[in-house]
Amino acid sequence: MTNLSIGGEKFGTFYGVGVGPGDPELMTVKAQRILRQVPVLCVPKSREEGGSYALGIISHLMEPNRQRLMELVFPMTKDRAKLEEYWDKGLDQLLVPLRAGEDVAFVTEGDPSIYSTFLHMFALMRERHPEIPVEVVPGVSSINASAAAAGMPLVDGAERLAILPATYEGNQLVDVLERFDTVVLLKVHRVMDRVLDVLEKLEMVDRAVYVSRCGSPEQRVVTDVASLRGQDLEYLSLMIVRRRRG
Ligand SMILES: C[S@@+](CC[C@H](N)C(=O)[O-])C[C@H]1O[C@@H](n2cnc3c(N)ncnc32)[C@H](O)[C@@H]1O
Repeated sequence: MTNLSIGGEKFGTFYGVGVGPGDPELMTVKAQRILRQVPVLCVPKSREEGGSYALGIISHLMEPNRQRLMELVFPMTKDRAKLEEYWDKGLDQLLVPLRAGEDVAFVTEGDPSIYSTFLHMFALMRERHPEIPVEVVPGVSSINASAAAAGMPLVDGAERLAILPATYEGNQLVDVLERFDTVVLLKVHRVMDRVLDVLEKLEMVDRAVYVSRCGSPEQRVVTDVASLRGQDLEYLSLMIVRRRRG
């Protein structure tokens, strides 16, 4: 394990570990090695009393008599000031074991480089504590896994792919759907009806597929996306819209 030594102090390494979308077989060998090796496993969750999807993915690897679990709360809010308050608090908690020389693995569902809380911790750590070594371990993202589950290519040849967090306003979605060959809509659950309106207007409803809880036993692949109108949908779901057939 790599520990830096500055002025006699030894620091633990801060790992951002992507653990895939839920299927334990979609977790890399490297992720499994690090998760087994570190003394502190950190999982993000959105509510104090709530569960963590990431923890569910890795719980079979944990050894409670040898490893500690650190659960950090990061509420789902667009209130930047509130988020910053929680990021700061999370950073302080992470620094305790890291400064004591213990490695910490921050667990991220999917891949850490795609809309993950780890990215905020990573940026703050780099900026405020550059002495702490950081390592990112990529994971299979929900995008790759969902394309595979749907039997749908993402991009081929000169095609272009866009990934949107489903927070577009006005004509933005129309614009992206017209300019890109494949569009992936993450966090689509709250805006599904609006998305369906746009797809219907562009006559693209039959080019879309919806995947929820990809990689878990509850995985669902829906090709008749119009049937999703008005439904209460899962946070862990996305839509892939592909202009070309096949
Ligand atoms: C904050 S982003 C995290 C993305 C994640 N880092 C990744 O690489 O897949 C959360 C969004 O990713 C998508 N997502 C994550 N896990 C998923 C899964 N197992 N099945 C379907 N969509 C998923 C959903 O659109 C969800 O709203």
